[in-house]
Amino acid sequence: MQQRLGQQIILFPLPLQGHLNPMLQLANLLYSKGFSITIVHTEFNSPNPANHPNFTFHAIADGLKGSQASTQDSVVLVSLLNINCFTPFHDWLSELLSSKISDGESITCLITDAIWHFAQGVADRLNIPRLVLKTSSVSSFAGFAAIPLLLEKGYLPKRESLLEEPVPELPPLRVKDLPVIKTHDPEDFYGLMSSVERETNASAGIIWNTFEQLEETSLNKLRQEIGIPIFPVGPLHKFFTASSSRLLAQDLSSISWLNQQATNTVLYVSFGSLATITETEFLEIAWGLANSKQPFLWVVRPGLVCNSEWLEPLPKGFLKMVGGRGKIIKWAPQQEVLAHPAIGGFWTHSGWNSTLESLCEGVPMICFPCIGDQMVNSRYVSHIWKVGVSLEKRLKREEIEREIRRVMVENEGQEMRERIMYWKEKLNSCSRQGGSSYNYLESLAAYISSF
Ligand code: UDX
Repeated sequence: MQQRLGQQIILFPLPLQGHLNPMLQLANLLYSKGFSITIVHTEFNSPNPANHPNFTFHAIADGLKGSQASTQDSVVLVSLLNINCFTPFHDWLSELLSSKISDGESITCLITDAIWHFAQGVADRLNIPRLVLKTSSVSSFAGFAAIPLLLEKGYLPKRESLLEEPVPELPPLRVKDLPVIKTHDPEDFYGLMSSVERETNASAGIIWNTFEQLEETSLNKLRQEIGIPIFPVGPLHKFFTASSSRLLAQDLSSISWLNQQATNTVLYVSFGSLATITETEFLEIAWGLANSKQPFLWVVRPGLVCNSEWLEPLPKGFLKMVGGRGKIIKWAPQQEVLAHPAIGGFWTHSGWNSTLESLCEGVPMICFPCIGDQMVNSRYVSHIWKVGVSLEKRLKREEIEREIRRVMVENEGQEMRERIMYWKEKLNSCSRQGGSSYNYLESLAAYISSF
């Protein structure tokens, strides 16, 4: 067992699945380097301490009341949490800092999700270094950081007539790819992003769930613009799986079902933890899957379809009609699913974790970006790395069927499969000894120890 260094790190994840996973993976990595770990978390979407016996957990009051505790409008949710958590977090940390000094173990630094912009003010007041974890791509950060310029130049708010226009300041993005999150008042979103960017720049460094070769151009550009150290140590799931930080129960029968399917034949369909679709879109997806005649494993998360509990809008007898060719579940052990030899394609919402997980397993993608950074990720998958296609038009069953066949059975899909093997190899070797992420992790540990 790795000897403890007597240095404790406080990690504060954002309570959303796609943010909790990488933060707890990072916590495991830092624990393996000898640091003691305390996870501070909100009551909303709290992680399960029983899955992490080596860590200390502390819940702070998040002040969410009734319907506020919902991911329906993530901008409203995280803006509110940034306000509500300031005092409880400050008071708890202040007390901890004084008590630990007498215990002998030093608290080295704070690592918070970048979206917790309020935490920089707390860190400054208490005189403790704060590093941030970025759970989305570097390329999407560039898009978020450019929001003031994009507003000034009239690219934002997006106008229907300009959607296909390139944005010369942010190649290879078009107006439709710019990262925005719909909320009741767009000013709230712009304000939130500007606070996140300002406080990220004021932090002691950025830990990024990406890796050097994948986003080299964006990383190099950022390094010229930003005066703080950057540690691209990803993909974090390569070191520790996301199973222990899941918020929903995984349906393990998906693996025994995949065991009965032929190699590279199954399309895995999942739109992550936040995206929602309308009932009409849900039905087009169902018929597109059925008409494609390909086997499919489809995650329909409760709440995915607006105004439905789960599968109520599905036509009666749908699953019987597709026979053994389709399986619908509520939540998958996604990493295991993507690593299964039966999987031949991934229809994804292009969340950054899902994109990295798919690249690591060499699974080509059908991208259906829904919010924020997902539009940027989709553009890179389809146009830069060329390991997937993008479903950009309105969801229609005929188009869905066509795109599924393109990726699963046509030559084009085979070419993507060959190209993605290059990234699979790079992603797998970067975390091995001597690889770029391995080296960045070493320098991150040394940097933290120097505080
Ligand atoms: C959103 C953003 O789009 C993402 O880019 C950002 O970094 C975090 O917030 P989300 O909708 O949660 O993300 O998607 P994604 O980033 O792909 O994360 C989902 C996680 O849940 C992945 O680690 C995936 O493996 C896991 N998952 C998903 C499961 O374990 N089972 C499932 O059935 C579906």
